[in-house]
Amino acid sequence: MARISVFGIGYVGVVSAACLARDGHDVIAVDVDPGKIDAINAGLSPIVENGLDPLIAEVVKAGRLVATDDVQHAIDNTDASFIAVGTPSAPDGSVGLKYVEIVCRNIGRALAKKDGYHAVVIRSTIVPGSTEGTCIPVLEAESGKTAGKDFGVGYYPEFLRESTAIEDYYDPGLIVFGALDQGTADILTEINQGLPCEIKVVDVRTAEMVKYTSNTWRAVKVTFANEIGNIAKASGLDGQTVMEILCSDTKVNISSYFMRPGFAFGGSCLPKDVRALRHLAETQGTPAHLLNAVLEANEAQIRRAEEMVERTGAKKVGFVGISFKPGTDDLRESPLAELAARLIKSGVQVDIYDPYVHEAYANENSTAGRGNDVIPDLKDRMTPDLDAMINDAGAILVGNFYRDTVATLEAAAKDRPVLDLTRMNRDKVSDGTYEGICW
Ligand SMILES: NC(=O)c1ccc[n+]([C@@H]2O[C@H](COP(=O)([O-])OP(=O)(O)OC[C@H]3O[C@@H](n4cnc5c(N)ncnc54)[C@H](O)[C@@H]3O)[C@@H](O)[C@H]2O)c1
Repeated sequence: MARISVFGIGYVGVVSAACLARDGHDVIAVDVDPGKIDAINAGLSPIVENGLDPLIAEVVKAGRLVATDDVQHAIDNTDASFIAVGTPSAPDGSVGLKYVEIVCRNIGRALAKKDGYHAVVIRSTIVPGSTEGTCIPVLEAESGKTAGKDFGVGYYPEFLRESTAIEDYYDPGLIVFGALDQGTADILTEINQGLPCEIKVVDVRTAEMVKYTSNTWRAVKVTFANEIGNIAKASGLDGQTVMEILCSDTKVNISSYFMRPGFAFGGSCLPKDVRALRHLAETQGTPAHLLNAVLEANEAQIRRAEEMVERTGAKKVGFVGISFKPGTDDLRESPLAELAARLIKSGVQVDIYDPYVHEAYANENSTAGRGNDVIPDLKDRMTPDLDAMINDAGAILVGNFYRDTVATLEAAAKDRPVLDLTRMNRDKVSDGTYEGICW
């Protein structure tokens, strides 16, 4: 069992302190608010949260949870400190690190006087780079010690929801952390042992980003449901029924399908249907801010790819894939076709390798090239010879994933820009002449 101090007895701090104590760990809760300290030590919960009153009473009585404002005492008598102070928005929307910095300063000073190992784990929500850019420098400056060597550091975000916080603690949807050192990783693994959730160990910045991604995704879902509900109501329909039916599809709608960062959406359905729903909303006078933003953001993703090509300075670009997705020759509203057309318009020569579109032309299918109303001379730009296209091109743009092209494209990336919109190799991130659009 571990000995843990929790800094900040707010909603997150008090729930995790109480649950850690219930799991058998010895917990010291630290706060600057004497009212909260007194409440805990009297066996009372300082907040209203389902199930917390009896839990605090139980663990305080058992002597496994005490509260104090004495930082040195807390550091000297525990092996790890969890920081769970508030990170309120600054006026410009940026994350407020004031309280986190103060706590790091206090902990750093106490670490200077402590012999032996201690891990500092940040649980507050902080933007990527904050642990490394703010917390560690403060801890090192105040302690005179080196993070990852003389003391441990980790970032371990909390995902509990108020009102079901204790339930969420014991049945979490996600456990993720990043640690600078094995000692910190071991403590975090130990306290999560036995929970019905896989533990994801990543680097500290990824853990910080996951926390924001999670909360932002929840916010997007609420806003989406509301916007659909508003349009449904204006159409004389029950928005909740519509969303319930949508959510019953866990194969595509409520799943990781379509949740993979990459290139813009396109094809014969999504763009036209988003436009049509937005138009319907407009005719009803129903605001559709999210639908507008979806179309704007999709356009921005095409522009982003265009800028990637522009940065290479290439005058000849070889496209791998031009249809709206692999496995089809359908060119209707293909964002790759749109991208190619823009480059051609700006004077870039575009050659295209796409086995499906090529096959449609070779077979003289009646559909060959259909749906393309943006690329001039499409047929003449098609080539079945990937090697020749690569040799001839100043840059390669990988738009669709064709398994049998990966080795050739990876070899090509050694000596010319390869811009990847699809992620031909999950293990590769932007490096040198290889650039992924979101990785
Ligand atoms: N509330 C949630 O549901 C929730 C869920 C997940 C993550 N978070 C994140 O967790 C963090 C904490 O949120 P919260 O809602 O628990 O905050 P809160 O405002 O309820 O509590 C913060 C506590 O920190 C204490 N504190 C301030 N300065 C201190 C210091 N120098 N030393 C010790 N204690 C100090 C305050 O007195 C207060 O008790 C935030 O970053 C938040 O974004 C919150």
